[in-house]
Amino acid sequence: MANIHIPPGWRLRESEATPESVYLDRRQFVARMGGGAVLAAASLACRPGGAAEAQQRGPLDNIPDTPTADLYPVAVNDPRFTPGDRHKEVSPEEIVATYNNFYEFGTDKDGVWRNVGPFEARPWELEVTGLVENPGVYDLVELERAFPLEERIYRHRCVERWSVVVPWIGFPLARLLERVQPRNDARYVGFVTFDRPEQAFGQKTQSWYKWPYYEGLRMDEAMNELSFVVTGMYGHPLQKQNGAPVRIHVPWKYGYKSPKSIVRIDVTDEMPMTFWNDLQPSEYGFYSNVDPDVPHPRWSQAQEEIVGTGQRVPTLPFNGYGEWVAELYGGRVTPVGDVPHAR
Ligand code: MTE
Repeated sequence: MANIHIPPGWRLRESEATPESVYLDRRQFVARMGGGAVLAAASLACRPGGAAEAQQRGPLDNIPDTPTADLYPVAVNDPRFTPGDRHKEVSPEEIVATYNNFYEFGTDKDGVWRNVGPFEARPWELEVTGLVENPGVYDLVELERAFPLEERIYRHRCVERWSVVVPWIGFPLARLLERVQPRNDARYVGFVTFDRPEQAFGQKTQSWYKWPYYEGLRMDEAMNELSFVVTGMYGHPLQKQNGAPVRIHVPWKYGYKSPKSIVRIDVTDEMPMTFWNDLQPSEYGFYSNVDPDVPHPRWSQAQEEIVGTGQRVPTLPFNGYGEWVAELYGGRVTPVGDVPHAR
């Protein structure tokens, strides 16, 4: 993004021999995060509290209270979408919850989880507006109970050349769209996130960004079975730093196409503006499919670092999901004109 920050190799390697070993060995993690504070925080899990308590909160203690907690964990329903034989090991939650892009809470990836305390992520309403037969304001609890929740283990590839593999929980965006019934003239789906400078200091202090964060998809992309409405991760509701209580995940696109903490879905007949494309159209396109052959103007996209492993691996076209989505683009990974520098 604007402030590119690639983690130095030492940060990733110090405690992680293999992802599984880290996943299982919380002692190393506790040592890395400063020992006592995390242990103390473990007993405070999920409870809202005052300043002193917030200071002791650990990165895995940012799950907002929800009456739908009983719905989690869920079974993996559709193994078709689970990553194949490459880039497939699930990243430790300790990594995914402590290395974040969420500019509403600052641009320091390691710091987001510390800054989300004031954010009130429940209760939550999601509005659907525009060219649909059934517009309305939906209580998120109602949506979580309306559609069968499933787990999808998706690769998650940031434009900054890092990636993780995350067991998200949620439901296909297509199910929600089918419920609201897009009209015949509906061609795009836009997403708008929350606007609460009093709870998200990044919105108050970084006035050069056009808050709130906004994104969008073409209707056929939104209706693709892979496009996912995420309400949970690692067997429980979402951590705030990962976009609680509801975000989108579109696994064949760079991570910025997956907006966090959304409050509105706009169905339109015009291509919606998007946060990064609006800010730097020469670097970030509307489509932004993961494409190892189209470098970012300032760096190559041929490889990525799997956070938490120190491993650098070749980036896959469509992030490895071409089988499901290539047909949407006539076989090209980056559509003509998506970014000016693409040939
Ligand atoms: N959504 C909002 N609201 N604000 C953001 O800054 N950053 C995006 C995306 N969604 C962002 C956002 C980017 S650049 C990435 S890579 C992913 O969130 C990061 O998601 P993660 O922190 O859960 O890995």
